[in-house]
Amino acid sequence: MKPIPQTKQQASRLTQWCMVLVVALLASTTTLQAQSEKNNACIECHADTVKDKVIHGPTVTDCKSCHVPNGQEHPLKGTIGFKMFDKGSELCYTCHVDNRASFKMKYIHKPLKKDDCVGCHDPHSANNQKLLKLTTPALCVSCHKDFAGVQESATSVHTASFEAEACLTCHNPHASKIKRLLVAKSKDLCLNCHNKTIKKPDGKIIANIGKHLDENDHKHKALKKRCTGCHDPHFSKDLTILLKYKYPVKNYTVAMEESYELCFRCHDTDLLMLEKTTTGTEFRNGDQNLHFLHINKTKGRTCMNCHDVHAASNTKLIAKTVKFGRWDMPLNYIDTEVGGSCATGCHKREEYKRGDLLKQ
Ligand code: HEC
Ligand code: HEC
Ligand code: HEC
Ligand code: HEC
Ligand code: HEC
Ligand code: HEC
Ligand code: HEC
Ligand code: HEC
Ligand code: HEC
Ligand code: HEC
Repeated sequence: MKPIPQTKQQASRLTQWCMVLVVALLASTTTLQAQSEKNNACIECHADTVKDKVIHGPTVTDCKSCHVPNGQEHPLKGTIGFKMFDKGSELCYTCHVDNRASFKMKYIHKPLKKDDCVGCHDPHSANNQKLLKLTTPALCVSCHKDFAGVQESATSVHTASFEAEACLTCHNPHASKIKRLLVAKSKDLCLNCHNKTIKKPDGKIIANIGKHLDENDHKHKALKKRCTGCHDPHFSKDLTILLKYKYPVKNYTVAMEESYELCFRCHDTDLLMLEKTTTGTEFRNGDQNLHFLHINKTKGRTCMNCHDVHAASNTKLIAKTVKFGRWDMPLNYIDTEVGGSCATGCHKREEYKRGDLLKQ
C-alpha cells in the first residue's frame, strides 16, 4: 500500500477542512446558545438555579412559568421584578394537578399544611432524585431532630428505619389515609418483614413472628391491631429489642413494679404485688397469689419463664417451652376449669385450685 502523500498543499487543504468544521461547530453551538437564551435569558445571571444534577422541567425552559414579570425593570437594585404565579403549594398544584387530589387525605404532613413544599423540594434544581434537598433519612431528620445521632447512641436501633428506603418504607412524606402517615396498616407493615427469620449483623437470629402468630391460636390482645404498644418502630434509647418501656428480657430480676413497666402499662399491678387476693389474679391457690410467690423476690422469676408475650398454644399465653440458657425448657401446662398445673424443669407437676369464691 502506498503511503499517503504529505504535500504542503494537501496539508493546507486539511487545515481548511478543519477550519470549516470548527466554524460549523461554533455556529451550531451559538444557535443552541441563542435558543436557550431566548427561552431562558435569566440563567445568564442566575446560573445557580440550574447548577445541580436534577433540574426541574420548567426551570430549564421557562422561569416565567413561576416568576411572572410585574413590569418593574430587572435587575434594578432594591426593586422586586417578579411576582409568583401563585402562592405556596398552590403554585405547585397549578401544574401538578394530580397531586392536589392525591395529597388531600385524612392525615396530612404538617409542612404541607403549612404550604411548605420547598421545605423538602428545591423548586429549581437539586442533587437528589425528585428534587429533594437531602436524601432520606437525612431529609426527615433535618426536622425530626430526636432521630439525630441515634444510630450511634441508642441501645437498640431498628435498621429498617435508617437504611435503604429508610423512613419511606413505612411513611408517606405527603399524606395518608392511615394515622401517622403510614403507607399500610401498622401491624401489616411489621409483618411484611417479620414473616421470616432474620439474621442480624451480629449473628443473632430473630424469630419469625408471622409464623409464630399463625401457628398459635392464643394471641396476646395487645397486638390485635399494632405491635407498637410495646415496640418502638425506630429505636430505643436505653432498652433492648426496641422495647418502649422497661421489661427484663432474662430469667431473673428484682420484683418491683418498675421492672415490669411494659406489662403494667396495661395490666393491674395487683397480680404481682398482693400476697393474698381473690380478685387480683387467676393464678392463685385459694387466695394465695402464685404470681407473687414466683416473682416477688430479689431474685424473682420473670414473666418470660411462663408466658410468651406474642402468642401461645396454651390459654393465658402460657408458653409450651421457655428459654433457660441453651435449653428450651418444657412447661407441660394443663389448664383446668378451677385452676391448672405445670410440670417443668423447675419442679414436678404442681397443681393450683382457685377454690370456691363464695367460701372465701
Ligand atoms: C443581568 C443579570 C440578571 C438577569 C438577566 C436576570 N436577573 Fe434576576 N436577579 C439579578 C440580581 C442581581 C438579583 C438580585 C437583586 C436584588 O438583590 O435586588 C436578581 C433577583 C431576582 C429575583 C428575586 C427578586 C425579585 O425580583 O423577585 C428573581 C425572582 C429573579 N431575579 C428572577 C429572574 C428571572 C425570572 C429572570 C429572567 C426573566 C432574571 N431574574 C434575569 C440579576 C439578573
Ligand atoms: C416551578 C416554579 C419555579 C420555576 C420554574 C423557577 N422558580 Fe425561582 N423560585 C420558585 C420558588 C417557589 C421560589 C421561592 C423559594 C423559597 O422560598 O425557598 C423561587 C425563588 C427564586 C429566587 C430567589 C432566591 C432563591 O433562590 O430562593 C430567584 C433568584 C429565582 N427563583 C430565580 C429563578 C430563575 C432564574 C428561574 C429560571 C432559571 C426560576 N427561578 C425558575 C419557583 C420557581
Ligand atoms: C409550570 C409547571 C410546574 C410548576 C409550577 C411546578 N412543576 Fe414540578 N414539574 C413540572 C414538570 C413538567 C415536571 C416533570 C414531570 C415529568 O417528568 O413527568 C415536574 C417535576 C417535578 C418533580 C419530580 C417528579 C418526578 O417524578 O421525578 C417534583 C418533585 C416537582 N416537580 C415538585 C414541584 C414543586 C414542589 C413545585 C412547587 C414549588 C412544582 N413542582 C411546581 C412542572 C411544574
Ligand atoms: C417532608 C418533605 C416533603 C414535603 C414537605 C413535600 N414533599 Fe414531595 N416528596 C418528598 C419525598 C421524600 C418524595 C419522594 C417520594 C418517593 O420517592 O417515594 C417526594 C416526591 C414528590 C413528587 C414526585 C412523586 C409523586 O408523589 O408524585 C412530587 C410531584 C412532589 N413530591 C410534590 C410535592 C408538592 C407539590 C409538595 C407541597 C404540596 C411537596 N411535594 C411537599 C418529600 C416532601
Ligand atoms: C420541614 C420540616 C419537616 C421535614 C423535612 C419532615 N417533617 Fe415530618 N413533621 C414535621 C412537623 C412540623 C410535624 C408535626 C409535628 C407535631 O405536630 O408535633 C411532622 C410530623 C411527622 C409525623 C407524624 C404525623 C402524625 O400524624 O402525627 C411523621 C410520621 C413524620 N413527620 C414523618 C416524616 C418523614 C418520614 C419525613 C421525611 C420524608 C419528614 N417527616 C420530614 C416537619 C417535618
Ligand atoms: C418500620 C416502619 C417504620 C419506619 C421505617 C419508620 N417509621 Fe416512623 N413510625 C412508624 C409507626 C408504626 C409509627 C406509629 C407509632 C405508634 O403507633 O405509636 C411511626 C411514628 C412516627 C412519628 C410520629 C411520632 C412518634 O414517634 O410516634 C414520626 C415523627 C416518625 N414516625 C418519623 C419517622 C422517621 C423520621 C423515620 C426515618 C428515620 C421513620 N419514622 C421510619 C413506623 C416506621
Ligand atoms: C423493611 C423490613 C422491616 C420492617 C417493615 C420492620 N422490620 Fe423489624 N427488623 C427488620 C430487620 C432487618 C431487623 C434486624 C436488624 C435490626 O435489628 O434492625 C429487625 C428487627 C426487629 C426487632 C428486634 C430488634 C432486636 O434488637 O432484636 C424488633 C422488635 C422489630 N424489628 C420490630 C418491628 C416492628 C414492631 C415493626 C413494625 C412497626 C417492624 N419491625 C417492621 C426489618 C423490618
Ligand atoms: C405486649 C408487648 C409486645 C407486643 C404487643 C409485641 N411484642 Fe414483640 N416482643 C415483646 C417482648 C417483651 C420481646 C422480648 C422478649 C421475648 O421475646 O419474649 C419481644 C420480642 C420481639 C422480637 C425479637 C424476637 C427475637 O427472636 O429476638 C421481634 C422481632 C418482635 N418482638 C416483633 C414483634 C411484632 C412484629 C409484633 C406485632 C405483631 C410484636 N413484636 C408485638 C413484646 C411485645
Ligand atoms: C398495650 C397493652 C398491653 C400491654 C403492654 C401488655 N398487655 Fe397483656 N393483655 C392486654 C390485653 C388487652 C389483654 C386481654 C385482656 C382480657 O381479655 O381481659 C391482655 C392479656 C394478657 C394475658 C392473658 C391472656 C389471656 O388469654 O387471657 C397475659 C398472660 C398477658 N396479657 C401478659 C402480658 C405481659 C407479660 C405483658 C408485658 C410483657 C403484657 N401482657 C403487656 C394488653 C396488654
Ligand atoms: C410461674 C409462671 C408465671 C410467671 C412467672 C408469670 N405468670 Fe402470669 N400467669 C401464669 C399462669 C399459670 C396464669 C393463668 C392463671 C389461670 O387463669 O389459671 C397467668 C395469668 C396471667 C394473666 C391473666 C390475668 C391473671 O392474672 O390471671 C396476666 C395478665 C399475667 N399472667 C401477667 C403476668 C406478668 C405481667 C408476669 C410478669 C410480671 C407474669 N404473668 C408472670 C403464670 C405465670
